[in-house]
Amino acid sequence: MDFPAVRMRDRRSSEAARKKHREIPEVRANDLIMPLFIKEGISKRAEIKSMPGIYQFPVKDIAKEALKVYISGVGAVILFGIPLDKDKTGSSAYTRDGIVQKAIRAIKKKVPRLTVIGDVCLCEYTSHGHCGIINERKKGDVDNDLTIKALARVAVSYADAGVDIVAPSAMMDGQVKRIKEALVRNGYKKVKIMAYSAKYASSFYGPFRDAAESPPKFGDRRSYQMDYHNSDEAVMEARLDIKEGADSIMVKPALGYEDIIYRLRKAFKAPLACYSVSGEYAMIKAAALKGYLDERKVVTEMLTGFKRAGADSIITYYAMEAAGWLKNKKRI
Ligand code: PBG
Repeated sequence: MDFPAVRMRDRRSSEAARKKHREIPEVRANDLIMPLFIKEGISKRAEIKSMPGIYQFPVKDIAKEALKVYISGVGAVILFGIPLDKDKTGSSAYTRDGIVQKAIRAIKKKVPRLTVIGDVCLCEYTSHGHCGIINERKKGDVDNDLTIKALARVAVSYADAGVDIVAPSAMMDGQVKRIKEALVRNGYKKVKIMAYSAKYASSFYGPFRDAAESPPKFGDRRSYQMDYHNSDEAVMEARLDIKEGADSIMVKPALGYEDIIYRLRKAFKAPLACYSVSGEYAMIKAAALKGYLDERKVVTEMLTGFKRAGADSIITYYAMEAAGWLKNKKRI
């Protein structure tokens, strides 16, 4: 008897055999989305301490950076602003001359073909650092319905500036519907909504809060972001977002949440993104700087894992670097 009957190793016996048996294509630069931070009141770029290689940019330099992103083959940028003025209601998030609004205009002028996504949230703009407006009467809870009105104003102000996609990340109920209605009412039928559908209350966001200067001054975000013990709830959240008019859905964080990516992929046809967050970048970067692991190989493996789980696109602070490592850089 021929034993073993099936020789699985045949398919791994050479580079050609391995390539032939690949179940998913290699990650493309075009699948990646690069986050960019723009800070008001600085004159040169400032490196983020917990994220070596990632910077806050002054608005005057942002178009040049976006051009670099475009040339690298990366598919899109997602913008985060750090304003000078913060107040209780986060009103600097939706002024015409807000930091993100200015950045959108500058990028669209210099690199019109680059897809620009604007993160829609209040946490960088509120003095208390929460993602919404606080209801003083309700023991400091974030007021859902007041907040989604403000988020809709943010989205419309980004659309006025020329954004392609808005990405609401505050995890407020009904935020997608409210934003969709406001966009349509203002004549922005083509602006798309990428919903942070399953955004978990995660300690992996730590370095981002340094970068965006947005840690909550009291309490935490567990009354609006998801509990990481749950996955049925992620399906419910995504279903609601699609019903409310989301064009694409997202899972965040990505590492450690591939089961959620997989479930949403199986449950819905909508384009699916995942957000490999600041803590994921910081961990690998720190280990790489110490020489503990091969950064290029580890990042490529991790990004491929997200694609295998079912993500169409990946938001990652490694986007630009990875684009340089990947072979398929052709724009599509
Ligand atoms: C909220 C927002 C956060 C991130 C993206 N959008 C922070 C938070 O929810 O606390 C985190 C991204 C990261 O960690 O890379 N506007």
